[in-house]
Amino acid sequence: MAAITLDHLQTMKKQDEKITMLTAYDASLAKILDGAGVDVLLVGDTLGMVFQGLPTTIPVTLQDMVYHTRCVARGNQNALLMADLPFLTYATPQQAMISAGQLMQAGAAMVKLEGGEIFAETIRSITQQGIPVCAHLGLTPQSVHSLGGFKVQGKYPKQAQQIRSDALLLQEAGARMLILECIPYALAQEITQSLTIPVVGIGAGPYCNGQVLVTYDLLGLTEGKPYTFVKNFLLDEQGGVPAAIKNYVDQVKKGSFPGLEHSFS
Ligand code: KIV
Repeated sequence: MAAITLDHLQTMKKQDEKITMLTAYDASLAKILDGAGVDVLLVGDTLGMVFQGLPTTIPVTLQDMVYHTRCVARGNQNALLMADLPFLTYATPQQAMISAGQLMQAGAAMVKLEGGEIFAETIRSITQQGIPVCAHLGLTPQSVHSLGGFKVQGKYPKQAQQIRSDALLLQEAGARMLILECIPYALAQEITQSLTIPVVGIGAGPYCNGQVLVTYDLLGLTEGKPYTFVKNFLLDEQGGVPAAIKNYVDQVKKGSFPGLEHSFS
């Protein structure tokens, strides 16, 4: 199997093949996800919550992200490796360049940052330095305090319009991919159709170009009531974790996950 590149993801969008993406924080799980054919591994700053036991992603440091990116890179062979720029490590284009550079040197092929139009200039300057950027709109967990909690975004016309216009602006600035988190599925569908870059959703319904989940959620390892957009793929699985991941990949590729029951209207 050939290593997945951004060109592959772009072709997948064009050919209507769904993109599969999951979080990974360590080499062992990265190897299982890669072996199951997951297209993109995300070293997400959710590692702060699910791995470090923190209440939010805000305390996660660049050193944490570099360490986990190195671990995941060792277990991965073919998937495209994306790493999150953590909170306040990309407040200026200059700072973003230095932070993104460290993640790329740790093994990332692409970095992700959260936020809208104020990051257009940052995206432009990082991409001009040869670092591909994935934008992240909708529920942006690093802004949880200004959003007033982990809530669905884009429910009201003004908010929805902001997400639409940010998506276009960030694509124009050079973003090569977009994550939409926790927005109504109709809005996600409209944005997916209007952009040329691949759009991957989490809590954004069935009509994006692909799907991402926090792997611990799909394995039922996360405490508390599961989110609407999560499905436990390990629950009825005889083949253990590798089979559960393969099942996730198959269901996303077939378009049977996520369904409208995992979506916000
Ligand atoms: O940090 C993360 O794991 C993420 C996903 C929820 C998309 O950003």
